[in-house]
Order: sequence, then structure tokens, then C-alpha cells
Amino acid sequence: MLFEMPELPWPKDALAPLISPETIDYHYGKHHRAYLSKLNEILLKDKSLQGKTLEELMVSEGTPLFNNAAQFWNHSFYWKCLRAPREDNHPEGLIAERIDDAFGNFESFQVRFAMAALGQFGSGWAWLTENSEGELKIEQSSNAGNPLVYGHKPLLTCDVWEHAYYIDFRNDRAKYVAAFWQLINWDFVASRLSK
Ligand SMILES: [Fe+2]
Repeated sequence: MLFEMPELPWPKDALAPLISPETIDYHYGKHHRAYLSKLNEILLKDKSLQGKTLEELMVSEGTPLFNNAAQFWNHSFYWKCLRAPREDNHPEGLIAERIDDAFGNFESFQVRFAMAALGQFGSGWAWLTENSEGELKIEQSSNAGNPLVYGHKPLLTCDVWEHAYYIDFRNDRAKYVAAFWQLINWDFVASRLSK
């Protein structure tokens, strides 16, 4: 009844040279795994929580249960948003059309998403989400926050906790966010669209 680590969708050197295997060793192997361990510890202590889905456990923001369940969800999702770097990496087809409809064009989407990622004070996440009307939005969340709590469906996320970039980019979050554009798995993002 406990949760298990998801496998990475690619080998740990797949994101190099932008994100190193060392970052993956720490970020996936230590940080992500620690959230899972703490989540499972909580479930072992409170059997009434066992059998619930991860999303059902992500309800009371700021509690240890929320923080560990949401960070486990967020990281499992983040890995799926990434793939090996491509210099000319941009969305195509329906997801490209939906981004153009919502933000004018891909370049203005990039500017606004980067503002969310860079403007998030301290640890958190930048998100592209879809609301119940099918509209795309850019959102920020602090710490473990996840837009699912507000009924918004995550399509894409960028982890802006320092542990996501400190080994490869030191304190330069802007350089990490600039590199992020080459790493987005747009096929995965497109697969998240509801319609
Ligand atoms: Fe992280």
C-alpha cells in the first residue's frame, strides 16, 4: 500500500550537458527519494491514509503529508516533462496552437513562463496548466505547491528549487531556465491536454 519510486524515463546522462548525471543522482536519487521515504513513513504511522491516491493525500497545504505527497507528485511529473536537449525545441501541432491562442505566440509564452520561474521567490515551481474551461495558464507555486489543489491540470512544470540547478548552474537560476527550453518534452506536454 506504500508508494514506490517511478523509473526515470531516460538514462541519467540523457539531459547532459545541460543537466548532469550528478544532478540526477542528487535530485532523483536523494531529494525525490527522500520525499517518498517521508511520505511512506507518514502512511505507515497512520493506516487510515493507506489506499488513498497521491492526489487524495494532497489536500491540506503546508502539512508534512501535503509537502511530501506533493513533492513526490511534482518530481515524478517533472522528469516526464524533460528529454534529451534539442537546440530547436518548440511545440508543434495542437499544443502549439493552444499556446498561441492563450499567449499570442511561443515567444511571449516563453517570456511569461520564464518570468514565473525567475520571479518565484525562494523554492517552488513554475507551471503551464489547463483549467476546467480548457484555458491554458501560467502559474507559480511555493515550496511543494501544486495547481491540482485549485482544480488546474498541470501540463508542464519547471522545478526552481536550488537543488534542481545548483550543481550545474550554481546560483544562476536564469541560466537554468534558459537551458530548460531545450529540454522540454513537448510530446508529453501535448499528451496532457484534455481535448
Ligand atoms: Fe526538485
